[in-house]
Amino acid sequence: MDSSHKPRTFSPNLFFFFLLVSSNLLTFFICNTFKNSSCALYQQTYNAIATVSSLNTSIPLVVEPAANRGDDVQESNKPAADLDLPSEFLAFTSPHKLPFGFSRNFDSDEIIPPVGHPCTRFPDLLRRYMSYRVNGSCPDDELLAQKLLLKGCEPLPRRRCRPAAQKEYVEPYPFPEGFWRVPSDSSVVWTAYTCKNYECLINRKTQKGFDDCKDCFDLNGREKNRWLSTKGAGLDFSIDEVLAVKNPGTIRTGLDIGGGVATFAVRMRERNITILTTSMNLNGPFNTFIASRGVIPLYISISQRLPFFDNTLDIVHSMHVLSNWIPTTLLHFLFFDIYRVLRPGGLFWLDHFFCVGEQFAQLYVPLIESIGFNKVKWVVGRKLDRGPELNEMYLSALLEKPLKNSW
Ligand SMILES: *[C@@H]1O[C@H](CO)[C@@H](O)[C@H](O)[C@H]1NC(C)=O
Ligand SMILES: *[C@@H]1O[C@H](CO)[C@@H](O)[C@H](O)[C@H]1NC(C)=O
Ligand SMILES: *[C@@H]1O[C@H](CO)[C@@H](O)[C@H](O)[C@H]1NC(C)=O
Repeated sequence: MDSSHKPRTFSPNLFFFFLLVSSNLLTFFICNTFKNSSCALYQQTYNAIATVSSLNTSIPLVVEPAANRGDDVQESNKPAADLDLPSEFLAFTSPHKLPFGFSRNFDSDEIIPPVGHPCTRFPDLLRRYMSYRVNGSCPDDELLAQKLLLKGCEPLPRRRCRPAAQKEYVEPYPFPEGFWRVPSDSSVVWTAYTCKNYECLINRKTQKGFDDCKDCFDLNGREKNRWLSTKGAGLDFSIDEVLAVKNPGTIRTGLDIGGGVATFAVRMRERNITILTTSMNLNGPFNTFIASRGVIPLYISISQRLPFFDNTLDIVHSMHVLSNWIPTTLLHFLFFDIYRVLRPGGLFWLDHFFCVGEQFAQLYVPLIESIGFNKVKWVVGRKLDRGPELNEMYLSALLEKPLKNSW
């Protein structure tokens, strides 16, 4: 194990120049794009829904538009009906009065449930998504939901209906048998996917039309050996060599970002470590499959702030996901968020980060080094799967949040 605890090197001017320019450009872009349209719409929406009175314990199932209620709407505020946003959306996002009045904890007498502010930029999708009968069955429209989420409407605002489910659900295999057994097809609602059963998903590496995680569902294929190799295999660190960096038993909880079918979490569970796995359902029932294996899926995109308090997790892992397809400023936010949720002494295992040759030294090395981690392992290699002419690179790094003075 190469223990190169190098002192933190501060990034070259180029990187900060880049960051400065890009964040200014971003601000400029946001202001100009949103000034007359969405920003105003957003403001209007919030002014309007702030007047919709909240639901109380009698739980009315139909919510009247604010306009019909004789609420005290200020002259300058358009009623919600003008915005043509679905009433169920307004019902959810409106301030809800606390039944016992002012709460010290909230420092308020009301709660406003959060939804991603871009929701209102896609009123047509939102209208389709939020048109359901309250207390009824939700539409079977996972593709629509994921589309809306990936456009930034996250967390999604649907809550008051029963999600599509199999008519005859088959319960998962018991622990620990479920770790490595493909669950019943009847545990999945297949509507959103090209494949209509697990057999098809397992064999999809030979089929056309799949991009991400093509061979992930084949638990007897490559999944079977991931993170097990013990013979110092370059970019492929093993779980046990990573855990050996810390005192036994001190890595107990963590997160795998974009963790496919959660084989990482399963391997860690076999070592009594609890890992949550974030995943989208890109043409496959990833979240359902992860849950069937007996570990926990988190349905959040990489744009969302990690739902953990500061300084809490022992390890964060991510393989093949954090890479140059992510806008650089967003990646900067994400790296800082990982630093935030890791406890001092916690590990960030950046597994097979990839980018193009020149970007690596000029942009990504300074970016990663600037966050404040100590380097425990740092292995750079070439990525050849799409051909050497593309000059792609991999970085596998094991980074540690400093135990002292991490703030
Ligand atoms: C709840 O709302 C209904 C209808 O708006 C109202 O009639 C009722 O008095 C309210 N109940 C409480 C406990 O606030
Ligand atoms: C809500 O739905 C359940 C199940 O369909 C039904 O039993 C119940 O009566 C409904 N409640 C209301 C208030 O409509
Ligand atoms: C996991 O925990 C159980 C119960 O405490 C223990 O019996 C088992 O040996 C542990 N397994 C490992 C790999 O540490």
